[in-house]
Amino acid sequence: SAIALGMIIFAYLCGSISSAILICRLARLPDPRQHGSGNPGATNVLRVGGKVAAASVLICDVLKGMIPVWLAYYLNVQPFYLGLVAIAACLGHIYPVFFHFKGGKGVATAFGSIAAIGWDLSGLVAGTWLLTVLLSGYSSLGAIVSALMAPFYVWWFKPEFTFPVAMLSCLVLVRHHGNIQRLWRGQESRIWQKLKNKK
Ligand code: G3P
Repeated sequence: SAIALGMIIFAYLCGSISSAILICRLARLPDPRQHGSGNPGATNVLRVGGKVAAASVLICDVLKGMIPVWLAYYLNVQPFYLGLVAIAACLGHIYPVFFHFKGGKGVATAFGSIAAIGWDLSGLVAGTWLLTVLLSGYSSLGAIVSALMAPFYVWWFKPEFTFPVAMLSCLVLVRHHGNIQRLWRGQESRIWQKLKNKK
């Protein structure tokens, strides 16, 4: 329908607003695309900026996924199209039209877009991320393990959303190929190293 199509475009545009780039610009912090891992996301803003900037980026990037899906849900957009709205928000974050199509890895935005499915699912995914990061110290490993687990969780709770969630997981995993190589070689930086190394 026209509303569903409109919401998919709206979601892509929301996702395209790179909060990491904009918040660092506003706070006069280094450009996250030029420093650290080069990724415009909350993890790298923690590396190049600090906790407050990173938390702000995390919240904004989660909202970019959450707002379009909630809005579409209340406009009675059908489940299949809700999945496409979620994927569009994530694709906007990864390939932003406003920033030469060079965006982030989609972790926070994918997480925000699945919040609409239910707090049980988002709680499990957030718990998986947190536990992995606390145990390993790697933000990227938290994202990778969460992306691998999310399709199983959703299949258990709300099987009708397994396909779109699996698509989101694929996007997140593909975007972490560099992290996977660094983890494999033991060259990935830990979250607390990021804080220690901050000048
Ligand atoms: O949220 C992205 C995270 O999983 C990895 O970011 O900057 O360490 O490559 P980064």
